[in-house]
Amino acid sequence: MPPLKLRLAALRLLFTVVVTCSLFCDIAKADDPYRFFTWNVTYGDIYPLGVRQQGILINGQFPGPDIYSVTNDNLIINVFNSLDEPFLLSWNGVQNRRNSYVDGVYGTTCPIPPGKNYTYILQVKDQIGSFYYFPSLAFHKAAGGFGGIRILSRPLIPVPFPDPSGDFTLLIGDWYKFNHTDLKAILDKGHKLPFPDGILINGRGPPNTASLTFEQGKTYRLRISNVGLQNSLNFRIQGHKLKLVEVEGTHTVQNTYSSVDVHAGQSLSVLVTADQTPQDYYIVVNTRFTDPVLTTTGILHYANSNHPVSDPIPGGPTIEIEWSLNQARSIRTNLTASGPRPNPQGSYHYGMINTTRTIRLANSAGQVNGKQRYAVNSVSFVPADTPLKLADFFNISGVYRVNSISSSPTGGGIYLDTSVLQADYRAFIEIVFENNEDIIQSWHLDGYAFFVVGMDGGQWTSASRDQYNLRDAIFRSTTQVYPKSWTAIYIALDNVGMWNLRTEFWARQYLGQQFYLKVYTASTSLRDEYPIPKNALLCGRASGRHTRPL
Ligand SMILES: *[C@@H]1O[C@H](CO)[C@@H](O)[C@H](O)[C@H]1NC(C)=O
Ligand SMILES: *[C@@H]1O[C@H](CO)[C@@H](O)[C@H](O)[C@H]1NC(C)=O
Ligand SMILES: *[C@@H]1O[C@H](CO)[C@@H](O)[C@H](O)[C@H]1NC(C)=O
Ligand SMILES: *[C@@H]1O[C@H](CO)[C@@H](O)[C@H](O)[C@H]1NC(C)=O
Ligand SMILES: *[C@@H]1O[C@H](CO)[C@@H](O)[C@H](O)[C@H]1NC(C)=O
Ligand SMILES: *[C@@H]1O[C@H](CO)[C@@H](O)[C@H](O)[C@H]1NC(C)=O
Repeated sequence: MPPLKLRLAALRLLFTVVVTCSLFCDIAKADDPYRFFTWNVTYGDIYPLGVRQQGILINGQFPGPDIYSVTNDNLIINVFNSLDEPFLLSWNGVQNRRNSYVDGVYGTTCPIPPGKNYTYILQVKDQIGSFYYFPSLAFHKAAGGFGGIRILSRPLIPVPFPDPSGDFTLLIGDWYKFNHTDLKAILDKGHKLPFPDGILINGRGPPNTASLTFEQGKTYRLRISNVGLQNSLNFRIQGHKLKLVEVEGTHTVQNTYSSVDVHAGQSLSVLVTADQTPQDYYIVVNTRFTDPVLTTTGILHYANSNHPVSDPIPGGPTIEIEWSLNQARSIRTNLTASGPRPNPQGSYHYGMINTTRTIRLANSAGQVNGKQRYAVNSVSFVPADTPLKLADFFNISGVYRVNSISSSPTGGGIYLDTSVLQADYRAFIEIVFENNEDIIQSWHLDGYAFFVVGMDGGQWTSASRDQYNLRDAIFRSTTQVYPKSWTAIYIALDNVGMWNLRTEFWARQYLGQQFYLKVYTASTSLRDEYPIPKNALLCGRASGRHTRPL
């Protein structure tokens, strides 16, 4: 007989299931609170760089509304697609544990047809921190449709800093005056993406100005995400220090920086104290590793002050790689702080676990049939006619081949395929990203966070392991790889599903620099993977089938 407490919990669970679960749960997560969202996705006029553009709005907003949640909440997001083309939202950094069906990328989830709606049922399980959502199809991300996601700690689980007086989302990113269909057409014709026109802070670039208001003496949290299409960005505030406290769900060692690099797709939180003379200060964001350098300023305003900003705009790093690498190495996990659970983040000793497999991934660029493509281990991904996850569920053969991408660089020319790499559930693996190109790279894995154990210039060899950080490496979901350099990560494959591994350089992602990591088990237990959602959209060769037996 289970202990009384457990039996009561089971009863309560049953009760909640009966009361609240018509659509949402044939899975035992009903004990946790629900948050409901209704979103209408439309086109609308926006003027981020002072000229009119057609933006993708959510409930009339650009950027879209923030999602506020608490660890373990169920998010029920009913998305109405009022665009004239298929649309999908994905959740950068949200792990969707045991449930890759709702990941919102085309390999796992069918697009929402124009004029239709679809209800995402997500659980933000065992995560805290700062993330964002974005539109994953076509080149929609260049038009908006993105917004912040914050997952707060449950009450009673300590956060390693005092409650800030305010908590702001800052979405920064490069931006084009071309609209998303024009940018997509450039890529479809086989060209590279041109240089962007500006940088936005919360949807505003010159001549518009984003602004924040602080009260003298108080401390604020800024959740900064780079939602742009490719450029690494440096963020700073004139006269103020940035205390780094969180990176993509991990509480960091609280180092203080005068500026921070945020690479494409990355998120982090800093604390800023309004400890200077009351006046306005510049918030500055500039592109890294580019020539020319694009810069945008916003304003940090002290309440009760009417002193304008004083020039000059403070300078920051621009092309220096070493500076960025040193900062990256200084970003570490605070081992004694709690994460989403009460136990300290350092209680999982990743450095003591033997890896069972090494996967080496090299990015490349080149032409296929006279058109620009980008590849991983020589394979340039092409979408199949059916989401891969649905092909698996319905046993539809011929959609993709397992291990259609090699687990180390082949050195051969680029070719097209629907690349899927299979790995075993519960394996503990090492992935080495090898960047032999002279651009900076940024890689993201859905469904997971990983330990960034090392990065350095030159070619990775097994001797590079000697310099790995096996103690307090940062645990995140997006990592940069410097030009002609490597980055190594460790991952515990504890989340069954079909997970997109992609570059965050959106043109490269669109032109094939991505694949799916299929984390496989023969088990069909609900403890390992949830069933396909009852309401899953079906498309391609899965059209007309049924998610449940009739
Ligand atoms: C979405 O917005 C459009 C434009 O404002 C409107 O016509 C449509 O009725 C809205 N749909 C929903 C479901 O609210
Ligand atoms: C993008 O701009 C082109 C003109 O350059 C226009 O034909 C097209 O309709 C626009 N697309 C959207 C989605 O605004
Ligand atoms: C579409 O929206 C309606 C009205 O809110 C809702 O009842 C229905 O379940 C939604 N459909 C899907 C597939 O989510
Ligand atoms: C790590 O977190 C602990 C526990 O909250 C805190 O007391 C300590 O100051 C933090 N250490 C650093 C270096 O940030
Ligand atoms: C890891 O591998 C080493 C060397 O093969 C072995 O001595 C050690 O016991 C292994 N550790 C674990 C935790 O399996
Ligand atoms: C797919 O094949 C497996 C194994 O043969 C079987 O158990 C399962 O019921 C099949 N699924 C569908 C939807 O037909």
